[in-house]
Amino acid sequence: MTLTHPSASAPERVATTRTVLMCRPDFFTVSYRINPWMNPQDPTDTGLAVRQWETLYAKYLELGFEVHLIDGVAGLPDMVYAANGGYVLDGIAYGAKFQYPERQPEGPAYMEWFAANGFTVAEPVSTNEGEGDFLLVGDTIYAGTGFRSDAASHDELRKLYGREVVTLTLVDPSFYHLDTAFAVLDSNGGPGSVAYLPKAFDDASRAILEDRFPDAILVNDEDAAVLGLNSFSDGKNVVIASRATDFERQLRERGFTPHGVDLSELLLGGGGVKCCTLELRR
Ligand code: ARG
Repeated sequence: MTLTHPSASAPERVATTRTVLMCRPDFFTVSYRINPWMNPQDPTDTGLAVRQWETLYAKYLELGFEVHLIDGVAGLPDMVYAANGGYVLDGIAYGAKFQYPERQPEGPAYMEWFAANGFTVAEPVSTNEGEGDFLLVGDTIYAGTGFRSDAASHDELRKLYGREVVTLTLVDPSFYHLDTAFAVLDSNGGPGSVAYLPKAFDDASRAILEDRFPDAILVNDEDAAVLGLNSFSDGKNVVIASRATDFERQLRERGFTPHGVDLSELLLGGGGVKCCTLELRR
C-alpha cells in the first residue's frame, strides 16, 4: 500500500456543508442511446445500480450533507442523473429543457419538486440540461455547450442570476456535459480550484481555462474514461470514482481528501458521482 502525503505547500482545505438533491435509481436501465456510453443491447442490473447509488447517498450523509430526495418516475431511466434536473442558485431554480425527447418529461418533474420545496422556478426557454452543463466557481458560472445545452441558455442564466457567465465549448462526444470534463474542487474560485480534461474543449475554451486556472489539476485519459472528473467536492472532501487513481493521487497532493465510490452500473448510462448530485443553493 502506498500513502501519498499532501505536499508541504498544500493549503489547508476547508469543508462547507452542502445541500443536494438526489434520485434513487429505482427505474434505471439503458433503453435508448443518447451518448456514446449507452449500449441498449447490453444488460443492466437495476438492483446493483440502487446498491451502488446507496453508497454515494451514505457517503454524503457521512460527510454531513443535507440530502433531499426526489421520487423517480417509471419510464424515465435517466432521472437518477439529478444534476440535469435544473440549476439552483440564490433560491431560484432554472428548469431544465432536455435536448432528447426521451428525457424531456424529467424537466417538469424536477420543476414540480423545486416549487413544492420553496424554490422560485424559472421556466426555461432554451434547451439546457441544468447543472450537468452549468458549474459555479467563485462568483462565475461556467456554462457548457456543444452537445446538449444551447448557448442561448447562457444568456438566460446571465439575466436570471446577474453573474458573469463564461461559455465553454465541448468537442468530444464522450464528454458531452460540462460536468464530465470539468470539476469544481474549491468554490472560492482560486487559480487551482478546478480540475479538467483539456482535450474535451475547443482551443478558445482551453485558452480561457488556462488563463483563469493556471494551477488546475489536469486528469489523464484513463481517469477521464471512468468519468473521474464527474466528482463532487465540499471544498475538502472530494467524492470521486474509485477507479480514478491518478486523479485521487493528485487530489491528495493538493491537500484534498478523496473518497472513492464505485458507480460502475450508472456509468453504463454515461453518468457518475456528479451526475447523481444537484446542488441546492438558497
Ligand atoms: N444518460 C444520460 C444522458 O445522456 C446521462 C446523463 C449524465 N449526467 C450528467 N450530469 N453528466 O443524458
